[in-house]
Amino acid sequence: MPLLCVNVDHVATVRQARRTFEPDPLEAAHEAIAGGAHGITVHLREDRRHVQDADVLRLAEAFPGRLNFEMAATDEMVSMARRVRPAMAMLVPEGRHEVTTEGGLDVVRHRDRVREVIAALAAGGVRSSIFIDADPAQAEAALSCGASVCEVHTGPWAHAAHASGVASQPARRELDLVRAAGGRIRALGLQFNAGHGLSTANVGPIAALPGLAELHIGHSIVSRAVIVGMRAAVAEIRAAIDGAAASGSAVHSAR
Ligand code: PXP
Repeated sequence: MPLLCVNVDHVATVRQARRTFEPDPLEAAHEAIAGGAHGITVHLREDRRHVQDADVLRLAEAFPGRLNFEMAATDEMVSMARRVRPAMAMLVPEGRHEVTTEGGLDVVRHRDRVREVIAALAAGGVRSSIFIDADPAQAEAALSCGASVCEVHTGPWAHAAHASGVASQPARRELDLVRAAGGRIRALGLQFNAGHGLSTANVGPIAALPGLAELHIGHSIVSRAVIVGMRAAVAEIRAAIDGAAASGSAVHSAR
């Protein structure tokens, strides 16, 4: 079964709406684990629009579970990662005007910088993952930069599944791209993770992909948590993942 890491950025978004002390991402992190998550993720953005430095420091100190640190490939974020030593640094591109991460990191284009950042993280004892589009050339570049994990961007799949239906041709085309990228990532000896735009409505076909190690999901879980609570929201998506992964592995072993 793929592991589930829950991104709690938008718990901090609600807090920052009033610049107050609640809701607390640390409390949400504990609830996510109680609901069946394997770890949690926070993205410290350059503009500090949701998660703050103090959140990262507090999570690193007080959260006993697995912490992933999503970050741009900047010196400032490398220093923070080396200070808090998360289980994994997740490299993403970052645009000041985007509402969320809009695409994978172009590792082919920024190969030298990415290699430098991964080496600096490794020297500080931090393992790196790179968020890439579903493109085998990006996976090959990630390997050449020293990454040990690639997270494939599932946003285009989520968008097509929402617009046209999970079984539609456009959605199937996007799913095939994620599957092919995952196959290449694994063939290169890297860990295959996936995330972005996933929800109980569309996670199934992704969760059933062969060799998928981890899913990284944030917005839909926090949205649902507003209605049913974090623990229940995580349990719901965990059940959707487990059901799909079980039927996916039955299909793979019958082949
Ligand atoms: N993976 C990466 C690399 C991301 O940037 C994000 C968004 O912060 C996610 C996963 C989670 O995406 P979503 O919030 O759409 O579930």
